[in-house]
Amino acid sequence: MSSPIIVAPSVLAANFLKLGEDIASVQQAGADWLHLDVMDGTFVPPMSFGAEIIHTIHQCTSLPLDVHLMMQRPDQHFRTFVDAGVSAVTFHLEACVHVHRFLQQLRDMKVMAGLSIVPSTPVSAVVEVLEMVDIFLVMTVNPGYGGQKIIPSCIDKVRQLAELRKKHNLSYKISVDGGVTVDNAPVLVKAGADILVAGTAIFQSDDRKKVIEKLHNA
Ligand code: DX5
Ligand code: ZN
Repeated sequence: MSSPIIVAPSVLAANFLKLGEDIASVQQAGADWLHLDVMDGTFVPPMSFGAEIIHTIHQCTSLPLDVHLMMQRPDQHFRTFVDAGVSAVTFHLEACVHVHRFLQQLRDMKVMAGLSIVPSTPVSAVVEVLEMVDIFLVMTVNPGYGGQKIIPSCIDKVRQLAELRKKHNLSYKISVDGGVTVDNAPVLVKAGADILVAGTAIFQSDDRKKVIEKLHNA
């Protein structure tokens, strides 16, 4: 039986010289989605890749693409990512003023609307838009870099979002991103996480299949 947990390897931790091979390897190893981190050098210090690369990735895999926009004014740039073939667009509350309008625009374009908060943003900041969100991405590290350790206090935000989902009879998925490992995945799933994003834990492992299996069974 397939697991209800969605495992989304974060391509940021792949070997960019062997990107096609690395993507095929996690697909074969049982990944459900691919997580693609777009960084603009302003919202977060590094720059990563943009819509051209994502379009190429879309052509070489059948996995749904979940793009995580770590950029200022995502509402001005998102169309190019939708055109590149992504299934979900997640942006940061902290980078956008008209969050309500943007979530609606994403749904109108028939992609999943994802909203993310950095570790210093409380869940109370998103209560007005709960009904408009398909995916809540709780950053469990400060965004911008792979390979960091999870910030334990962020796990409580997963619990809060799970309680709000139940209370209001909503169906958004809760995703966690940053420092996710086979060791902390059970706590995250117990708190209410449905989507486990993991870069280092999957791509740096000698046995990607085993790691993905353990995340599925967390
Ligand atoms: C961090 C990114 C993450 C990152 C996760 O800002 O949003 O998706 O790739 O990497 P790990 O799993 O190594 O913490
Ligand atoms: Zn990410």
